[in-house]
Amino acid sequence: APLKSLVGLPDFQWSARHYMNTSAYTYYRNGAAGEWSYRNNLEVFSRFRMRPRVLRDITNIEASLPTTILGYNFSAPFFISPCARGGYANPDGELGLVKGAAQGNILYMPSLYSSKPMKDIYAARGNGSQQVLFQQVYLDGGMNETQQLFRDIEAAGAKAIILTVDSPGDGIRHRAARYSVGSANSAYSLLTWDLYQELSKMTSLPIIPKGIQTVEDAREAVKQGVKAIFLSNHGGRQLDTSPSSLEVALEIYNEDPEIFKQVEVFADGGVRYGSDVLKLLSLGVKAVGLGRPFMYANIYGAEGVKKAVDILKYEIANDAANLGVADIKKIGPEFVNWKSVNGW
Ligand code: FNR
Repeated sequence: APLKSLVGLPDFQWSARHYMNTSAYTYYRNGAAGEWSYRNNLEVFSRFRMRPRVLRDITNIEASLPTTILGYNFSAPFFISPCARGGYANPDGELGLVKGAAQGNILYMPSLYSSKPMKDIYAARGNGSQQVLFQQVYLDGGMNETQQLFRDIEAAGAKAIILTVDSPGDGIRHRAARYSVGSANSAYSLLTWDLYQELSKMTSLPIIPKGIQTVEDAREAVKQGVKAIFLSNHGGRQLDTSPSSLEVALEIYNEDPEIFKQVEVFADGGVRYGSDVLKLLSLGVKAVGLGRPFMYANIYGAEGVKKAVDILKYEIANDAANLGVADIKKIGPEFVNWKSVNGW
């Protein structure tokens, strides 16, 4: 489908499904086991109704989109989550993602398992190589390899390390396994908070745990001195029936709302519309990540990624206006009815 015919983020999935070969598309699309978490990530947003306020001055809504993430300036409160194997969608791999992020002035977090080498991705940075990237890592080597990895990441110029903590075991991914494109490390990694502290001493960059799924772990992370936490169930690709980040954000809001003031909170999973972003922000989330929509958009390279950015910005601003929000950074939980429609 021609790029100009796409009008919303789900259109990129439709286009990718027709364009990519089945095994590559399946790798992106797949969720764990019965894919309950995959579906719940998408559907959870519709269980909570907006509470639009009317006759309010919303004329400055667009100007309130830009925000900071760990002190760095971006044009919007959303970012590209780390996803492996960008090469499945485009021979240029992650280059479309890094360039599209630069053109849209949003944050991109390259995956350790990118198709392109880290140095190529960082060499493609825009803004006179000043474009801010946070580098995602898995720890699959010993301490010496990890020390070397951290040195490489610092030398490349990343501004933070995103440490994925939701995957001590493989994701059970039946769909992908049928095409032999599943995850297959089969080694349980013994990552603990003690090790987190050791890792923190090995780098000057902040290490942000990605995959926090309970208020207890959010609290523990704050106690361990993190600068930010990243709520995620890996796009429903790891533990099936794990909660969506909206449910985790709500748990934190209900039981320990101070956490949103103590550290920056990032969240991803199932975000496809402007209103999804607003619901997460309303609880105190600082920035919202999207994985698959940008991976699918990358079939069009940087142009597609930039278009996805523009679509989401447009939707956030419009939805905020219709919601009666004067300043996106000041949206609060009173704009959503947190009694779930289905009583879940
Ligand atoms: C991922 N995700 C992921 N996460 C991570 O920390 N490291 C990684 O290498 C990958 N790889 C990966 C590949 C693909 C194809 C997908 C779809 C996802 C998870 C990703 O960062 C993010 O949490 C989810 O994609 C968010 O859900 P949505 O936006 O895809 O619904």
